[in-house]
Amino acid sequence: MRYLTVALAKGRLAEHAMDIFTAIGVDCAEMKEKSRKLVFTDEKSKMKFILVKASDVPTYVEYGAADIGIVGKDTLLEESRNIYEMVDLSFGACNMCVCGKPELKGKLSGMPHLKVASKYPAIAKRYFQDDKGQTIEIIKLNGSVELAPLVGLADVIVDIVETGETLRENGLDVLEVVCPLSARVVVNKVSMKMERGRILDLIKKFTKKTQ
Ligand code: PRP
Repeated sequence: MRYLTVALAKGRLAEHAMDIFTAIGVDCAEMKEKSRKLVFTDEKSKMKFILVKASDVPTYVEYGAADIGIVGKDTLLEESRNIYEMVDLSFGACNMCVCGKPELKGKLSGMPHLKVASKYPAIAKRYFQDDKGQTIEIIKLNGSVELAPLVGLADVIVDIVETGETLRENGLDVLEVVCPLSARVVVNKVSMKMERGRILDLIKKFTKKTQ
């Protein structure tokens, strides 16, 4: 039997996924230890796990370097890869939002040349330009996006809001909700043909533990 390889998005999603894999009998003990190791093997279940940056999970899965991936819907919307999105796992629930200073609430559509900072330029562009027909300038950032409206780099941001704590601590508010997000299981299209039974069985067991 060949190994099934699962790509996990490093961070909160990977940790949650490891707990669920442990609950269905996969040995994740080594993976849970803090180390710089990136590949883990469980001989008993014939599974390999790779820990990758969230935005790279769809790439590993599309090219077949991983058969399965567990990643946030935000990454899937931003990356638009040729992979199967199989299941909404419901954990990691949060919202993609337009955020900014509270005084901008209800005023965005009347603002020409809106400057929008985001780690998610494709999502921001689709929301403003395609859905709302509003021309915007997008400024791509890689983190601490909440800083942009505070220092005048952008009028608003498009970013994930989970607890709302980062916004509160920086005097910002949700101005509009773009869409809800959560963790998803994705599968490589060839793997789905070659290992259909094993993959569906794994997803079924995994999903049961998330409910
Ligand atoms: C994410 C997101 C927000 C924050 C939202 O950032 O981009 O900044 O979490 O969470 P909250 O609503 O619970 O405060 P992350 O922690 O990934 O760090 P980053 O800003 O450096 O990307």
